[in-house]
Formats: sequence, C-alpha cells, structure tokens
Amino acid sequence: MEAKAKVIKKETEEFAQDVIEGLSQKQKTLPCKYFYDSKGSQLFEDICELDEYYITRTELSLLDSIKQELANMIGSQATIIEPGAGAGTKIQKLLSALDSPKSYVPIDISEDFLNYSKEKINQKFPLLEVQPIKADFTDKVHWDKRTTESNRTVFFPGSTIGNFSPTQASKLLSNLAQLADVDGAVIVGFDLKKSVDRIEAAYNDKKGVTAKFNKNILSRINRELEADIDLDSFQHEALFNHEESRIEMHLKSRKAQTIEIEKQRFEFDKEETIHTENSYKYSNQAFIELADKAGLKSEKHWMDKERLVSMHYLTQN
Ligand code: AVI
Repeated sequence: MEAKAKVIKKETEEFAQDVIEGLSQKQKTLPCKYFYDSKGSQLFEDICELDEYYITRTELSLLDSIKQELANMIGSQATIIEPGAGAGTKIQKLLSALDSPKSYVPIDISEDFLNYSKEKINQKFPLLEVQPIKADFTDKVHWDKRTTESNRTVFFPGSTIGNFSPTQASKLLSNLAQLADVDGAVIVGFDLKKSVDRIEAAYNDKKGVTAKFNKNILSRINRELEADIDLDSFQHEALFNHEESRIEMHLKSRKAQTIEIEKQRFEFDKEETIHTENSYKYSNQAFIELADKAGLKSEKHWMDKERLVSMHYLTQN
C-alpha cells in the first residue's frame, strides 16, 4: 500500500475507534477535533463571518490595536510558533508588525494545510524562514534541531484554548511553554465570560450555520465509516453550563432510534444527546490562575472596548 493510503487508513481506524468509544459512554460524546474535515473547516470559516459570532472579528480588531505593543515586547529576530496554524489574517498581522522576524513555525496535523500555509506566508514574507512541523500540538511536539534558536514566541489566538477542559488546558499551556523555552513568551487569546444571552446567540445563529457545523460530525461518520445516520433525526443544541462556565454543544435525537456504525449498534432514547463540544469562557482572573498552574505568568493583557475577548502575554514563572 502507498504511504499516503496507509496514513488515511490509520486515521480512519482512529476515527472509528474514537467514535465507538464516545458513543459507548453513558453520556454519549464525540471529540470536537473531528469537526474539522474540509467541509467542517469551511463551515467554521463561515461561522467566523456571522453577526452573532463576535470572537473572530473582535480578536482581529483587538490585534490591530495591540500588534505594535506585542511586537515591541517580542523584540527582533523572533521565531513565531503557531500551533494549529492558520496562514490566516491573525498571524499575518503579527508578522507584519515585528521587527525583522527570523522564522515562522506552523504546527498542524494536516500536511496539506502546512503546505498551503508555507506557500502563503512565503509569498507575503519572502525573507522569513518557514519551518513547518507536522504534529498534533496537543501531544508533546518534538523540536529537535532548532533547540538552540532563541527568542521564541508561541502565538495561540482564536479561543481554541476554550475547547479544552481546564485540566487539559493547563497541560497544553505547559507544553506550549516548553516550545517557547525559558526566555520565550506564549500569547493566548480567549473568549471572556459575559452575558449568557450573548454567548448562547453566538452558538445558535439564525442562519443555522453552527447547526450544520455540529451535524457535520454525523455526516463525516456517514461518509468515512459507511454509516447511515439520518441527519434529520438529530437536532443541534447549544446551552450555557453555569457551573462549568462553558457553552456545550449537543446533538439531540428527535426520536428513540438505533444507529449502526462498523457493525456496532447504539441505542438512543428520544431526546438523548451526544455531547460534541465544550467552549469554556474565562474571566481574566480565572485565566491567570490557569496559566499559573502551567508555570506561566501573565505579564500583560488587553481587552476590546466591550470586554468580549482577551489576549494575554505570558512568560515562564
Ligand atoms: C474553534 N473554537 C474556538 C470555536 C468555539 O467558539 O469554541 C468552535 C465553535 N464551535 C461552535 N462555534 C464555533
């Protein structure tokens, strides 16, 4: 078998295993990382454009107003590391503000995405070295040859940190701190705690794009695992959980039913849900405490005027 086909087979097996494991639990779950196949990534981009979804828009304009200050704090000849890389507008804003940045290190599991990112960044910043790393940034990333490089800054915007539980998030932050090394910094953007109405509206948009994004995980199971789930028999639901300070996305079964995936049967009661995503919302204080657990100190943070999102500049304690 060709190498690429082998990788796809392994990825499909892992997907099947995670789906079966998640649906076998008392509260059925599916890992939110499986939202992002090419269809889901496109739907997420559409979400970012929605009126109700304030996070992307607000963070972009916050970045515009603080990028020079960030650049001064980072200094010259920097190496910028981006886990779950973008090649998008945010990284370009930061790179253009920096004084002669040395290299850009995008980290992603998708080779196609890394190639795209390398090409785009090379075009815009011909003097910058782009050194992609193919890895799952939630695991330990091996840095190898570049260990001697100094002035490393990890850039982690977009509120992705919110999609991890606080325990996973502080572990992730300490992994990012290791990537930055002792004298480096970690810049994290996240969504602030605010009125429940505002948050719930962002995850229940009127056009139904978030519902499609949520249901895409079922379409993906149908496509990749040859299942035959009736998509209309599930309904998107997003509700704020006060105790946990997070918005939860679920897929609620409209009827009692059995679905079959890879010869395994899963029974659903009417209104039973599959929990598909958590998006934690932090106060600045709660985030500072989370970072502290990861051995990071918040040197400075910035918020937009409405106090919707926040960005922290963290260094090692
Ligand atoms: C990627 N992540 C930060 C988004 C969020 O807001 O948690 C994913 C998302 N889920 C529904 N809408 C957007």
